[in-house]
Amino acid sequence: MLQTVNPNRALWEKGDFTRIAATMRGSGESLVNALGVRRGMNVLDLGCGDGTTALPEARLGADVLGVDIASNLVEAGRRRAAAEGLSNCRFQEGDASNLEDLADQTFDLVVSIFGAMFAPRPFDVAKEMVRVTRPGGRIVMGNWIPNDPTLVAQILKISSAFTPPPPEGFVSPMTWGVETSVTERFVAAGVPAQKVAFARDTFVFNFRGTPAEYVGRFRDYYGPTMNAFEAAQKNGRTAELQRQLEELFQAKNTSPRKDMTSIPATFLRVTVTV
Ligand SMILES: C[S@@+](CC[C@H](N)C(=O)[O-])C[C@H]1O[C@@H](n2cnc3c(N)ncnc32)[C@H](O)[C@@H]1O
Repeated sequence: MLQTVNPNRALWEKGDFTRIAATMRGSGESLVNALGVRRGMNVLDLGCGDGTTALPEARLGADVLGVDIASNLVEAGRRRAAAEGLSNCRFQEGDASNLEDLADQTFDLVVSIFGAMFAPRPFDVAKEMVRVTRPGGRIVMGNWIPNDPTLVAQILKISSAFTPPPPEGFVSPMTWGVETSVTERFVAAGVPAQKVAFARDTFVFNFRGTPAEYVGRFRDYYGPTMNAFEAAQKNGRTAELQRQLEELFQAKNTSPRKDMTSIPATFLRVTVTV
């Protein structure tokens, strides 16, 4: 039988996002601590990766289900939860555009930090998140903001300039960082606009090594940057891409230490009351 490749899954299974997530744990935990997670809450962590926010949710006593499209990250999440003895933190494969395995009105809180924004069909994503949230529950998304001057928006902007244009009809994940688009998607899912709230927040990336070494981490393990380097190599532009990224990482680094890189990045925090 012909197996069709799901490019969305392939992008995230390509590298090893754990190698990036390891530099994001502190901010993930701080964010969760601000969400009012309580013992016994049913929490869905969508696009959970290897559990940067799912594990802290479970440590606070919630019953957590992490769902991610990448099988390697689901496995990594299971290993991390098992290593901490967090039996209340489960992981399974799934697609944020179609959560067919999950029943209506199941979760008190749906969290998706830089996760569901990468799924195709954003209107379906909003509809699915609303469907699985119980009335009175909340959805919290963290989304990178297009054209924002801070780290991740700039990495994605530089990377896309070296990558072939996406197929026709592709909706950029970055549109999840535009308030009017986000509101439109949740309104279409049946949520009144006044129940969609926005705030700017910051994630800090902390890496033990120089900014140039941190670029190497993205080049070797982060799907979107790996694709950009592959495309750049075909066009003889690898050095140019490396230089642009090194300049970016150096300019954004706030660590006074030579052996550390610390880079804050702004994101849009979306809170939807269902
Ligand atoms: C930037 S990572 C963030 C992971 C995690 N939330 C964190 O904060 O470390 C994006 C994640 O979204 C997942 N993802 C992408 N498309 C998805 C989809 N359609 N459904 C579910 N997860 C998806 C990727 O596999 C990846 O784990």
